[in-house]
Amino acid sequence: MSARPPVVVVLAAGEGKRMRSATPKVLHELAGRSMLGHVLAATEGLRPARTAVVVGHGRDQVTPHLAQLDAEALPVVQAEQHGTGHAARLALEALGDTDGTVLVVPGDAPLLTTQTLARLVERREESGAAVVLLTTVLPDPTGYGRVVRGPDTGEVDRIVEHKDATEEERGIAECAVSVYAFDAGYLAAALTKLTTDNAQGEEYLTDVVAMARADGHGMQAVVAPDHAETLGVNDRVQLAAAGRVLNDRLLEGWMRAGVTVVDPATTWVDADVTCEEDVTIQPFTLLRGSTHLARDAEVGPSCTLVDTSVGAGARVLNTHAKGAQIGPRANVGPWTYLRPGADLAEAAKAGAYVEIKNSTVGPGAKVPHLSYIGDAEIGEHSNIGAATVVVNYDGVRKHVTRVGAYVRIGSDTMLVAPVEVGDGAYTAAGSVITGDVPPGAMAVARGKQRNVEGWVERRRSDTPSAEAARKARERAASREAEGETGEG
Ligand code: UD1
Ligand code: MG
Repeated sequence: MSARPPVVVVLAAGEGKRMRSATPKVLHELAGRSMLGHVLAATEGLRPARTAVVVGHGRDQVTPHLAQLDAEALPVVQAEQHGTGHAARLALEALGDTDGTVLVVPGDAPLLTTQTLARLVERREESGAAVVLLTTVLPDPTGYGRVVRGPDTGEVDRIVEHKDATEEERGIAECAVSVYAFDAGYLAAALTKLTTDNAQGEEYLTDVVAMARADGHGMQAVVAPDHAETLGVNDRVQLAAAGRVLNDRLLEGWMRAGVTVVDPATTWVDADVTCEEDVTIQPFTLLRGSTHLARDAEVGPSCTLVDTSVGAGARVLNTHAKGAQIGPRANVGPWTYLRPGADLAEAAKAGAYVEIKNSTVGPGAKVPHLSYIGDAEIGEHSNIGAATVVVNYDGVRKHVTRVGAYVRIGSDTMLVAPVEVGDGAYTAAGSVITGDVPPGAMAVARGKQRNVEGWVERRRSDTPSAEAARKARERAASREAEGETGEG
């Protein structure tokens, strides 16, 4: 039986003191997405009927972020945090009439998977139990609520918070992780009966478990298959640990989908990155944002690609790219900087110490060495000589440069924008091009060479250079004399 869509309640009003941050805890990011974003991505997979998110601390930041993540999610303000039970109560009140299953998840557990949450919801629907609790066995359960099971039945009796637990109870490794599937009606009624008679003076959502057991309304537990999935993030050490688990999970997914990851330990991918089959990722590579790698592309070592698309069979080495498009079979790097709007067509090249922004490089065109290209269009199969610079900025405004097809820009050319170089034209090395070049012309825009003979021996007489020049002059003179006598 496929379960009815649940109503989801995310608890995200807590302060997250231990993060020691001006940013609310649930907005801290891993794999390019906020913790809240990860939790909502996991619950979104259940196609929930409705979603409420309890916000409190930092809600001026959390609420707008939530609106971006899910415009339909209902933010519920918990101005003072009187505990998880209080938070859940406010959420149910705000949601109004609710039936079926209410799934409660904490906003700071970014590793939860849709699969595990779906199991919980299905179990609740199939069994009709009042509560289905997710538990996990942790190597270090310090701080967590412990799951106390009956000595005879082995069934869950109640949850005792760490702060309220006896020494013996603290020895229990099975923990509650703030994930539950409740019968909506049962939960609404139970939440009105919570007391604050505990170590923290809070309404504990966990107390609903013992209530359901005592009422005989059915109480079941699902043990998480992998405890890593339930890890909560309370400080930045746990944030990094969760980030590593998430990264391993994402990489494993891509490897199973046909991507070669040479060194998973030094490869980091964001949750929204996508790859096609037979991609190879070399070590020390960060793929961030919405970066996409097409079939047979090879990226790295040492690349950082942000919101960049890499075409089929392209090769990108030692490159920093943001908002760039790298065409099929293009060649980029090493030491290349591609900025937003850099658009390399099929089989184009951007080589060492080249920076490109807001420019198109046509099919087969090359910018091989030491260049800056900004606000330019470069036509197909043109070659931009080493150390060419597009002078796009007059100090106030940016201007456009157009280079046609099959152009040969000589090394160290300055293209002073706005300027146009026609198809098939050449520029002489070292030229400062300030006027348009017609198709097929050779533009020379540089000082004529003048040699001042003997200058070094006259003006720098006691230097090794003068000595070398004198010897060279003597050798030339003796060769000339030999030539005159007809010898050799
Ligand atoms: C809670 C559980 C504990 C569990 C642990 C880890 C209770 C009483 N205890 O303890 O059994 O092992 O989480 O999952 O529920 N929150 C609110 N409003 C509040 C209080 C909390 O929205 O008034 C939110 C927090 O933002 C957080 C979640 O609820 O996302 C859990 O709160 P937290 O303070 O971390 O509870 P713990 O003491 O860790
Ligand atoms: Mg906590």
